[in-house]
Amino acid sequence: MENTLSPHLFSPFTVRSVTLRNRIGMSPMCQYSATDGFANDWHFVHYGARAVGGAGLIIVEATGVAPEGRITPGCLGLWSDQHIEPLARIAKFVKERGAVAGIQIAHAGRKASADLPWQGGAHLSEAQGGWPTIAPGALPFGDPLTKVPRAMTAADILRVQNDFVATAKRALTAGFNWLELHAAHGYLFNSFLSPLTNQRTDNYGGSFANRTRLLLDTTRAVRQVWPDQLPLAVRISAIDWKAGGWQIEDSIALVKLLKAEGVDLIDTSSGGLVPDAKIEVKPGYQVPFAEQIRHGANLATAAVGFITDAKPADEIIRSGQADMVLLARQLLANPYWPAHAAKALGQKITPPNQYLRAW
Ligand SMILES: Cc1cc2nc3c(=O)[nH]c(=O)nc-3n(C[C@H](O)[C@H](O)[C@H](O)COP(=O)(O)O)c2cc1C
Repeated sequence: MENTLSPHLFSPFTVRSVTLRNRIGMSPMCQYSATDGFANDWHFVHYGARAVGGAGLIIVEATGVAPEGRITPGCLGLWSDQHIEPLARIAKFVKERGAVAGIQIAHAGRKASADLPWQGGAHLSEAQGGWPTIAPGALPFGDPLTKVPRAMTAADILRVQNDFVATAKRALTAGFNWLELHAAHGYLFNSFLSPLTNQRTDNYGGSFANRTRLLLDTTRAVRQVWPDQLPLAVRISAIDWKAGGWQIEDSIALVKLLKAEGVDLIDTSSGGLVPDAKIEVKPGYQVPFAEQIRHGANLATAAVGFITDAKPADEIIRSGQADMVLLARQLLANPYWPAHAAKALGQKITPPNQYLRAW
């Protein structure tokens, strides 16, 4: 945790050899706009605009480590070398605009093979362009994700780990300098972590040590190929919002182990595991989790979720609740949120030359 000297929203943040120009990151957000996993002009403009708008970190959306690991047929993928080039173009532009280029790599597990949200988001049969799903066990998520996943074999587990490692290498080749593993929202890693979704009886289920094994082993393998000088982050669901599920104490215990594997920052989200979770959504509702993990495990955190205004965002940093904030919907609505926030807080950020007369 560098920069502990009164950091605020617009102070730089250094993780390993990478320095963010401020503490505002673009939260990963699926665009459901790819064909066969390939990034296109939509993605280029979408991510490029937020880098122009002043964010310190751009995290490219959940990007599948395998075709069957995509949430929808429109999700990005990086399971082949052919996927590198259009992502490299995005990473290059983001960096030219002074932001750090990050990417979230993911496997959607039992929530994969869904239709695009604006087409209803239900599971797709193979005839409709969907595919068979895998998970810790043969437990479906529930309406409208009704597909029964196949319980993963030892060979599946090994393959998924290898897919994460190969994808991390490709992300590096594409020029990304910040990597995030998606272990939240009920996707594959998350479904191994929680006792609600992991009922395995082998050494990947049962005890806390067994349920965390897949994520920890994969993190260790990824860290070996992801350079020492570059940050590695993990997004987790800090709690399931359900009795009998994963609790904040579990998160703190997990984060201590992730830290020992070379993870630098925890992107602190919550929920998404089961459909009947009772989530108490209100402004900054997940910030206390980021704070508890930051202090409980002594690791940097990013706070995310319903952070809308400059002042509270700044306060999250000033009060030491988190090291940075990630914004999702606010940045969709306004790519220039960081520029406006700087003005509201009396901070100066340098606009691109082309926009000098506007900011
Ligand atoms: C359109 C959309 C797509 C999203 N896709 C992802 C994703 O790819 N990976 C992820 O971890 N979270 C995803 N999320 C969750 C956001 O990253 C974020 O955690 C959530 O929206 C709360 O932040 P907000 O209140 O600033 O929107 C998505 C959210 C939205 C609105």
